[in-house]
Amino acid sequence: DASDIEKGTHPHYMLKEIDEQPLVMRKIIQKYQDNDGELAIDGTIIDAIKAADRIYIIAAGTSYHAGLIGKQLIESMAKIPVEVHISSEFGYNMPLLSEKPLFVFISQSGETADSRAVLVQVKEMGHPALTITNVPGSTLSREADFTLLLHAGPEIAVASTKAYTAQLAVLAIVAEVAAKSRGVEIGFDLVKELGIVANAMEVLCDLKEIIEHIAREFLTVTRNAFFIGRAVDYYVSLEAALKLKEISYIQAEGFAGGELKHGTIALIEEGTPVIALSTQEKVNLSIRGNVKEVAARGAYPCIISMKGLEQDEDSFVLPAVHEQLTPLISVIPLQLLAYYAALHRGCDVDKPRNLAKSVTVE
Ligand code: G6P
Repeated sequence: DASDIEKGTHPHYMLKEIDEQPLVMRKIIQKYQDNDGELAIDGTIIDAIKAADRIYIIAAGTSYHAGLIGKQLIESMAKIPVEVHISSEFGYNMPLLSEKPLFVFISQSGETADSRAVLVQVKEMGHPALTITNVPGSTLSREADFTLLLHAGPEIAVASTKAYTAQLAVLAIVAEVAAKSRGVEIGFDLVKELGIVANAMEVLCDLKEIIEHIAREFLTVTRNAFFIGRAVDYYVSLEAALKLKEISYIQAEGFAGGELKHGTIALIEEGTPVIALSTQEKVNLSIRGNVKEVAARGAYPCIISMKGLEQDEDSFVLPAVHEQLTPLISVIPLQLLAYYAALHRGCDVDKPRNLAKSVTVE
């Protein structure tokens, strides 16, 4: 049927969309470059960012996880304070707003009702809003003052993959352009580094067999699984856990490495899979310390590290990319891990139970 044609040689949309990530990365680099090869966004958006004293990112699900990383990118590169809020909670736990807030809505579909409710509220208060979305003409795009597109192409699988990495890339570009407009030096060439990311993504997409093997070994029969990380790896752990629970129904959680001892380590039993990420030099030793703690209590550890930080016991080594951009590539083996876990457990990868691609009810 028609969907078989669209999927091409891929058995599932999710796998197709995972494989499209290097291409999407290159498309984004191209779409966001001006004639001189400089990264650029619309001048009116730059003015809105320059006028803001604080950015409020509003999103749900995977887009919220992208927002957490966006906060780090914008704060470290452009030196603008950023808060990240789950859209469904914003109305109940409204933060004290700064004098000149700029609201940034991150939404693959541009249709999420929870996010739209916040946009309506924000517009009533008279604040400016920017939507970052994959769908031109979507509700959130039409109703916000400004839009930035992901250029990821249609995402069909319920579990979001290429939209997440596209969101990270566009957020990095926003951070770089904002920094430039404020005269802040970021200290690296983002165009070049995103090119390196695209190449690394390609390498990772060719290593599926290793990930399938890890999924088979760690995730075929388990009822739960934990992802741990520190610094930006913690945020990627949250996304990895969401991917795994969405499509394989394994109870999965992402934890900050240092928080384990404050309660969650009680969950570790003989054979509990613990997947640890290590992409940042500053936390490489401490996350490995956490792995030792859980392994001593019977956990099966699987360490995924960045080239240059790897040790003999690691299960998978990621190609090196700029330390600020590691989430763009560390998430790929974790997306694949979720995919193969779901596949081996006989789950419907593209259409998991109880979930919808875009949730247009509150
Ligand atoms: C649904 C999807 C998730 C997605 C979330 C936010 O729950 O199943 O994959 O992350 O909505 O969607 P959005 O389109 O706003 O990014």
